[in-house]
This record gives sequence, C-alpha cells and structure tokens, in this order.
Amino acid sequence: MRQIAIMGFGTIGSGVFDVVNTNREVIKRNLGEELQVKYVLDIREFPGQPVEKVLVHDVDTIVNDPDVDIVVETMGGLEPAFTFVKKALEAGKSVATSNKELVAKKGVELLALAKEKNSNFFFGASVGGGIPIIRPLLRSLSADEIDQVTGILNGTTNYILTKMDQEETSFEDALKEAQDNGFAERKPEADVEGFDACRKIAILSSIVLEKFVNFEDIQTEGITKITTADFQYARKLGWAIKLLGSSWKENGRVYAMVAPALVKPENPLFAVNDVFNAILVHGNMVDNVMFYGRGAGSHATASAVMADVVEAAKNLHQNIYAGWTAEKQELSGISTSRKQFLIRVKGDASRKSELVEKFGSGQLIDAGVAGEIGYLTPVISEKEFDEAAAGMEGILHRIRVQA
Ligand code: HSE
Repeated sequence: MRQIAIMGFGTIGSGVFDVVNTNREVIKRNLGEELQVKYVLDIREFPGQPVEKVLVHDVDTIVNDPDVDIVVETMGGLEPAFTFVKKALEAGKSVATSNKELVAKKGVELLALAKEKNSNFFFGASVGGGIPIIRPLLRSLSADEIDQVTGILNGTTNYILTKMDQEETSFEDALKEAQDNGFAERKPEADVEGFDACRKIAILSSIVLEKFVNFEDIQTEGITKITTADFQYARKLGWAIKLLGSSWKENGRVYAMVAPALVKPENPLFAVNDVFNAILVHGNMVDNVMFYGRGAGSHATASAVMADVVEAAKNLHQNIYAGWTAEKQELSGISTSRKQFLIRVKGDASRKSELVEKFGSGQLIDAGVAGEIGYLTPVISEKEFDEAAAGMEGILHRIRVQA
C-alpha cells in the first residue's frame, strides 16, 4: 500500500482526491500496488464530505509520518507552499506539484534538495494542465536539439480570445465566463497580463536549455490591449490572434517572450481554441511536434499530478533528472529579433507611401474599420520597428506576426 498526502484541497487538490478514488484500479495496475490518500491538508473544514475523514490542519502531521512517501502540493502561490514542500523534501519525501509559481521561482533549490535527499521533485502539472509535455521534453525528445518552443499556455486568455473572435463577446464578459468555469487564476491579472504564461514558458525553456531561465527576464505582454478592431484585421487576413509564450534560438542568440501574435492557418496553433492549450516544439531532427489538450481544470490537471505520483512511487529513493541546472541562461533582449508586424494607424490608404518609407515594402490592409488603415510590414527587427514607429503620428496598435 502506497500512502500519499495532498496539501491544498482547492480546484486541483480536490481533483487529485477524485482521480485517486475514481481510477483506483487503473492506478493500482500501473503502479503494481494500491494507492491511498492518508492526509489532506487544508485550513478549511469540509463537514459531511468524504475528505473530512483524512483532513488535517498541521503540515507536520504529514512531514513526520514515515508512512507517507509522496506529497502532492496543490496549494498554489509561493507561500506557504515553498516552506511546506521544502519540509517534505527535507524529510525525504518526494513531491508532485502543479504550482508553476513555485517551480519557476524556487525550482533550482527544490530540484537540488530532492537530488540531495535521493527523492524527486516532479512538476508535470505546472505547465499545460493535463497535457503531457514536461516528461516528453525531458525523455522523448532527448536526441534532438530543440530550437523553438511556442505555446498557447494559458486557458483563460485563449478562451477569452476565442470568444472575442468567434462570438464578438466583450473582454469583460469572456473573462467572467472563464472565472465561472473555474480555470481563471484568483487574480485575473495573472492570466490576462501574461504572467501565468510567462512562468510556464520559463519552465519549458529551462528544461529545453538545461539551464535556469528566470521568468523575470522574459518580456511579457498580455491581452488587455487587444480589441475587436484587431480581430477585424485578423479575420480579413484569415488569421487568428493568440497569446503565445515562446523561446527560440535565432542567429546564435536565445530569446523568450510572451505576447499576443497573429497566427496563420498553416501554423498548428491556429486551430487551438477555447480553454485548450498546445505546445509546438521544433527539434532539428524530429521537426515540429505539437502537444494538445486541456491546459486547466480540476481533473485534467489532477491527471498530470497523479502521473507524477505514480512515477515518484516507482522511483522511491532514486532521484531522476527532471529539471535543469542552477546555471543561469542569459536571454537576448528582443530588439534584435526579426519578424513581421501588423500596424494600425489613423487615416486611410493615402498613408501608404509614408508607411512604405518608414517600414519598407509591405502590404496595406483595409479591414473596413472606420478612420484607420492597417499595414503589414516586411520582416524587420524589433529595433527597426520601434525606430520607424517612433516618429509616426496616429499609431493605434501593433501586433507581431508569428512566423
Ligand atoms: N489560469 C490558468 C489558465 C490555470 O487559465 O491556464 C492553469 O495554469
């Protein structure tokens, strides 16, 4: 009998409890023994609910119980999650977490501690919810030089952008629906300002580059400036607007960024809608591989947590490389990175010669929005774009085009 504890009985923690109960037989078959939740830690009471029987309020009950080998952390946020996870690892237990903030900020320290204690710190549920992406990056693509990872990494923003595009819903109404469905963060800024996606691309980039990528170094733009007019241009072009988290190698430099981008139909990320997430990985041998699924939600994320629990149970007292080194990966500022831009300016087609002169030979886009005109630039650097735009009158917005 393998006994585990769950710290945090919120959306994901309660999902883990359900998965253990619903899939008891499947887990037993895959693990080779029965698995049971011995404790659930939460500050709240849950009177009359099945969890009541195993509910505890003191983390030390878990940490000091030698029968508990594996601890699930689904509290979210940095504290007290960090303190509790550290305690569990120090006590020789393995930890499976869904907490991207914890992994992005404290991953180096917690991975080193697990290694020192011959246990494991797994975080497969911290990126992409239920999508298996962490282990495939670590194992299945280990023979490839990965030069680009691009993901739709936040279900809430993808849901909002899909609603804004397909149903012309307002940003506020779409956000409210996402929150009601339980996949938005408690503070919506984490989703809509791109902070959540930023932590996730930092984690993926750290794995791919095998060095620590600090999320604070990643230029991050959210979706709050995206308007219905932007979607009119996207529709005119036959393209989509997605919030992308990317890291890539370009001319010997390493870049990372989170920003909304226009995505063309030939890109597999184009068709990823609603709360779904997807991660497109490019390797020098395998070419493009895409991982697609539910990036948020109770049971989907809990499924990934439990897969880590099973892996940890099969590897008790044996540390498996599952992260990155403490060495820091320096990122290039994006000013040298090159791409196309869609710029919207006040006025009409008569501004074409000015736009050509500033940005080079591109394409005028008239999406039928009164009082403005769009222009698709040629491929230029971010710096060239900024310099050209600096002296221009009447700029309304600009969106990058995903290559
Ligand atoms: N708020 C996140 C999202 C939850 O919408 O994707 C999963 O990390």
